[in-house]
Amino acid sequence: MPHYDLLIRGGDIVLPWGIERLDVAARDGRIAAIGVGADATAGQVFDAAGLHVLPGLIDPHVHLRDPGDPAIESIPTGTRAAVLGGLCAVFDMPNTDPAIADTTRLEWKREYVERVAWCDMGLYVAGTKGNIPALADLELERGVCAIKIFAGSSTSSLLIEDDEHLGRAMRAGRRRIAYHSEDEYRLIARKPMFKLGDPYASHMEWRDEECAFLGTRRLMALARRTGRPAHILHVSTAQELDYLKDFRDLATAEVLVNHLTQWAPDVYEKLGGFGVMNPPIRGRRHYEAAWAAVRDGTVDTIGSDHAPHARADKLKPWPDCPAGLPGVQTLVPLMLDHVNAGRLSLGRMVDLMCAGPARVYGAVGKGRIAAGYDADFTLVDMKHRRRIEDRWIATPAGWTPFDGVEVTGWPMATIIRGHVAMRDDEVLGAPQGRLVRFG
Ligand code: DOR
Ligand code: ZN
Repeated sequence: MPHYDLLIRGGDIVLPWGIERLDVAARDGRIAAIGVGADATAGQVFDAAGLHVLPGLIDPHVHLRDPGDPAIESIPTGTRAAVLGGLCAVFDMPNTDPAIADTTRLEWKREYVERVAWCDMGLYVAGTKGNIPALADLELERGVCAIKIFAGSSTSSLLIEDDEHLGRAMRAGRRRIAYHSEDEYRLIARKPMFKLGDPYASHMEWRDEECAFLGTRRLMALARRTGRPAHILHVSTAQELDYLKDFRDLATAEVLVNHLTQWAPDVYEKLGGFGVMNPPIRGRRHYEAAWAAVRDGTVDTIGSDHAPHARADKLKPWPDCPAGLPGVQTLVPLMLDHVNAGRLSLGRMVDLMCAGPARVYGAVGKGRIAAGYDADFTLVDMKHRRRIEDRWIATPAGWTPFDGVEVTGWPMATIIRGHVAMRDDEVLGAPQGRLVRFG
């Protein structure tokens, strides 16, 4: 009679080949069996009747601000928020204070993550003009999901804006580089057109469509010349989504849940500075294009770009209000709501949030429910209705741009390598996050 550590009974399992009602079993943190006899026993049996069992959902784009200001966010609080939001792993950006751009800082962060994180983590390392010779080694370090390059400036001073340095960075190393793609020269040139206190919607006029499109055209020209694979983060324009179809041999693409959920001018009228992010939320045409690109397969991954800032700072007039919005705890509920609204299938959501990040970044043992893979599961109730509220946001900044939004579909449990990390809105046990392995 087989014995397991964990048995998940009676759920609808979202397998790579379809949805089947089966029992799944975990042993030693990995998936031991799919389809288990009635006689099997386990240390823990999880009754998943009425729930869908998804592979552990991944948010490949968060800014947990650590080191930085723990009153806004930190790795302990941000990964706790992630687990509450149904995520088994997050990939964390390097624009912290100080930035993660060398082995010393990376080693510090790895050791810290393995002590305090509630979910598994991948770590981006920043590419800078100063560390290009080290990038080929840095990208092979344990736990590193990718080199991240800000080709246009956003929060922090990280920046490689010129073709000369970008080309050199692309020639250093081989793995896929993740880019913030907005053309820095155009950003600088347009800034004088605006003044303090202009409407918040000026954000998308300043950082206009051409800033993003030009940034992506320049990166694709360099990627073509160097042969270096690229992942274009938070693609925000119809033009880029169309253009990238001709670069599928080199480029993968991310779209943010924000760009699939909100549009201008509504978002600025309703939220003011609490709708300001880079690249900006744009007009309805781009929202429609983002959904079309989700449906036709142009989009590989979906992220939250969780980037908390203090409430007091977001209340400042434009452009003094910093760009960035919390989202790690609301990503899964919003995406489930989109599934319920018929905008994408549950299978496509899993493709974007599990298989997609695993494929784009080369994560090992993640991204699908299959024997031998990590026993990571997000259990969701597709019928559960709930209102998103500021007051239960676990990020210390304490707000969400989706406050008051009613959604259908909710993460009921987060299971990470066989350990139930969250059940019914309660975080369980101790932090057990590990670094994700990348091939
Ligand atoms: O809106 C944004 N906020 N975009 C970025 O690129 C960075 C992020 C942050 O770190 O605040
Ligand atoms: Zn970001």
